[in-house]
Amino acid sequence: MTESVGSEEFAGRVAVITGGARGQGRSHAVALARRGADVAVCDRCADLTTVGYPLATPDDLAETVRLVEAEGRRCLAARVDVRDLEAVVGFVDDAAGELGSVDILVANAGVSTMASIDTMDMAQWSETVDTNLTGVFTSLRAAAPHMRRGRWGRMVAISSMMGRSANPLIAAYAASKWGVIGLVKSVAFELAHAGVTVNAIAPGNVSTDMLHNEVLYRIMRPDLEHPTRDDVAGPFASLHVQPVPWVEPEEITAALLFLCSEGARHITGSVIDVDAGASARFTA
Ligand SMILES: NC(=O)c1ccc[n+]([C@@H]2O[C@H](COP(=O)([O-])OP(=O)(O)OC[C@H]3O[C@@H](n4cnc5c(N)ncnc54)[C@H](O)[C@@H]3O)[C@@H](O)[C@H]2O)c1
Repeated sequence: MTESVGSEEFAGRVAVITGGARGQGRSHAVALARRGADVAVCDRCADLTTVGYPLATPDDLAETVRLVEAEGRRCLAARVDVRDLEAVVGFVDDAAGELGSVDILVANAGVSTMASIDTMDMAQWSETVDTNLTGVFTSLRAAAPHMRRGRWGRMVAISSMMGRSANPLIAAYAASKWGVIGLVKSVAFELAHAGVTVNAIAPGNVSTDMLHNEVLYRIMRPDLEHPTRDDVAGPFASLHVQPVPWVEPEEITAALLFLCSEGARHITGSVIDVDAGASARFTA
C-alpha cells in the first residue's frame, strides 16, 4: 500500500480541469484521480499568435488521459478553448452526463504574455485577458448550475502572485490575474448558500513550460543571447522571498487538494499563496 489513509477522499466525485493537457493542470488531474475522482480534462491544444511559447498539443492531452486512466479512474477529454462559453458549457454538460456529476472545477487554463504598455496591441491584450479572466468566467458559469443541483461543489481558479502584485511588461497578465480574484470572491458570495466554495490559488514561479521558454528566459536575462536554466535561476528567485527560483506543480496541487477537502468546507472567497514567500511583500 503506497497511499496514505484517506486516499479515496474524492471517490464518487467528478473533477473538471481546464488547461489540463500538461503542467499544473495535469498534476491536478492525476492527483485527484489518485484520490478517487473521475476526471474531465479540456485544453485548447493549439498555439495562440501572441503567446511566445508553444501551448499544449493533442498528444499532451492524450498523455494526461493515459495517466488518469492508469490511476484506475475514468477520463473524458476534449479540445475546448475556454474563451468560448458555448463550448465550455457543452464540455461541462458532457462531463456531467457521461461521468455522473460535476463536483470539482479547476479553472486552470492560462497564458503568459509580456509587452510594454507603449506598444501592446489589441490582440496581445485580448488573447491574455480573454483566456485568463474570461476563461475563468466561462468555467465557473458552466459548472455552477451542476454544483447548485448537487448542493456540493469546490471551485478553484488559478490566479498568480501577479494577481496580487505587479511588475513591468506584464500589464495584461497582471490585470487578468487580479481580475480572477475579484471574480472568485464575487461568485463565492453567490454560491455560499449552495454548499459550493469558490477560492483561488496564487502561485509564484512554477516549473512548467509557461516558465521554461526562451522568450521569458531572454526577458529575465536580456544581457545573454541564449540564457540557460542556470542563467535565469537567480532572477527568478529574486521574485520570491525564499531562495528558490521556482516551485513544482505538485506544490500547487497540494493547496488544491486542501481546498477541495472536507476540512476546507468553510473556506470560501479566499486566496492561497503558494509562492515561496513572495506574498510576504504584499500589503495584506
Ligand atoms: N508557470 C508559472 O510560473 C505560473 C505562475 C503563476 C500562475 N500560473 C498559472 O497557472 C496556470 C497553469 O499554467 P502552467 O504553469 O501549468 O502552464 P502551461 O502552459 O503548462 O499550462 C497551461 C495550459 O493551458 C492551456 N491553454 C491555454 N490557453 C487555453 C485556452 N484558451 N483554452 C484552453 N486551454 C488553454 C495550454 O494549452 C496549457 O496546456 C495558468 O493559469 C497560469 O497562468 C503559472
